[in-house]
Amino acid sequence: MCGIVGYAGNREALPSIIKALHKLEYRGYDSAGVAILGTELNIFKACGRVSSLENNVPTFNGKIGIGHTRWATHGEPSQINAHPHTDCSRRFAVVHNGVISNYQQLKEELIAEGHRFISDTDTEVIPHLIEKYYGGDLEAAVIKTLNILTGSYAIAVIAQTENKMVVAKNGSPLVIGLGSKENIIASDIPPLLDYTNRVICLDDGELGIITQEAVKIYKNGRLIDKPVSIVDWNTEDVQKGGYEHFMLKEIHEQPKVIRQALLNYNSAAEPIIGSDFMGNKAGKGLLILACGTSYHAGLVAKYVIEDLLDVPVRVELASEVNHRERIIPVANAIAITQSGETADVLISMKKLIDAGCSTLAITNVKGSSAARLANQTLYMQAGPELSVAATKSFIAQLIEMYKLILMQPALSEPLKTQLVSELKLMPGYAQWVLDHEDQIRDCANHISPYSNVFYIGRGINYPIALEGALKIKEISYIHAEGYAAGEIKHGPFSLLQNDTPVVAIVSKDFTYEAMITNIKEIKSRRAPVIAVAQEDDHYIEQLADRVIRVPNMHNLFSPIVNAITLQLLAYYTAKYRGCPIDFPRNLAKSVTVE
Ligand code: G6P
Repeated sequence: MCGIVGYAGNREALPSIIKALHKLEYRGYDSAGVAILGTELNIFKACGRVSSLENNVPTFNGKIGIGHTRWATHGEPSQINAHPHTDCSRRFAVVHNGVISNYQQLKEELIAEGHRFISDTDTEVIPHLIEKYYGGDLEAAVIKTLNILTGSYAIAVIAQTENKMVVAKNGSPLVIGLGSKENIIASDIPPLLDYTNRVICLDDGELGIITQEAVKIYKNGRLIDKPVSIVDWNTEDVQKGGYEHFMLKEIHEQPKVIRQALLNYNSAAEPIIGSDFMGNKAGKGLLILACGTSYHAGLVAKYVIEDLLDVPVRVELASEVNHRERIIPVANAIAITQSGETADVLISMKKLIDAGCSTLAITNVKGSSAARLANQTLYMQAGPELSVAATKSFIAQLIEMYKLILMQPALSEPLKTQLVSELKLMPGYAQWVLDHEDQIRDCANHISPYSNVFYIGRGINYPIALEGALKIKEISYIHAEGYAAGEIKHGPFSLLQNDTPVVAIVSKDFTYEAMITNIKEIKSRRAPVIAVAQEDDHYIEQLADRVIRVPNMHNLFSPIVNAITLQLLAYYTAKYRGCPIDFPRNLAKSVTVE
């Protein structure tokens, strides 16, 4: 998704902006641009990577500037459609993340008034409106402009005649880093870490005036005091640390992530949400909302909550809830979102909150919109995740859900003790998978030439089949489908031949026999089978063409090792296919538009 950055300080703005844009590359984008305020307002844009912008931009001097990575929504990826956008007189430059929903009507009105537009974007109306309203005071013109915009935005604006940057937000994220004699703004925290760990998260409806010396935040025209948060991430967390890709680094961080999340975990402590929230007292059930990989974490949680706590759980895609005509009647909801900024999650949360629902956000980003919106927040402890494909955040979400569930008083003490001690073995099991990477790499080599692949699982590992398929399609561009193993005969059988491998997650639980039958059925159609099976499952060797081993463990926690295995399978398959693993085409890390 689009990323915005801005700098006002004592250094040259251009290198600071370029460096910050590199730190936003993980969000996914197709073009980039900068505007630097020197003796005049200089703008330069380039299609493609930030490095292409960096290699071609002239040396613009100036201590204030803004920059943008664009993920096309209105108009194809091109130099003209790239941001910053400007007005007829080229006195104002604007970068924008979000969608202006009434831009078409505004554009027609502005054209009738004599404004000339050059791009297909919704954003271009903003500098033209600022131009129209400007009477010598940038913030006054920005406020007038914002008053007539509908839709979502995080914007940063600079003007030729003013030594400042004006920022504002509604729906899209914007954070401000407070440095020493310099201030920096961005769509996310990583670009700020080179300057400071002191951060202000702008809220919807707020406007900021940023100069080298000061950050002033206004709401409804009044200066307000905003809390400053201290971010506990550091610059090493957002570097590759010797790994070829962020994704591989993040996969390898997982044993540490699990270990840290379990440090000082006490299942006897009062849970952040108790049985009332979980719904077993009032019998109301629970709703889990999420998108993408986080949705799969929600599906695993459903199995665990229903099995252990006897509470019915509905897991819904936020992008669906958000477009339902009727609000789903529910008392309590958990929103799972790594970024805390996924527009569909935020919109559905708002709808539920307005309908009187109590919400818990499980997120990775302190001060994110989801955290600020929810009644309560549980922070997963994954550290910054920069590869577009979610890996460690998924595992961290699972761990937080397990921790929460195992604290519920409804569980008997002996069962709690047994499960908690099993859970504490997970860092070791995750490490085991990483230590046995070779077997996965071999299978990846085998899968990489195929065009289609199926992933099947049952029970608690059905969501892992979905996640495995999502991972490989995201980064290797192989068409993949995740299926409940029992459903494969209701359609996919027509596709199964020797050119369509099937990755089967084989759990040593009450689904085992049924899965073995499925594998036999698949083999009769001559489709190659790669089984992901426990170390002590020797029978599977007689059936599957290839077996990837995972350690023996309690089935409840098997999604963790199976997911890590399938992350590596996707990673190495994409690597064999020569794909740009961290920045897959057309995808964004943080989907901040509906
Ligand atoms: C994007 C990312 C996925 C992520 C999904 C939901 O599609 O590429 O990796 O799972 O958004 O994001 P969230 O931040 O809400 O978990």
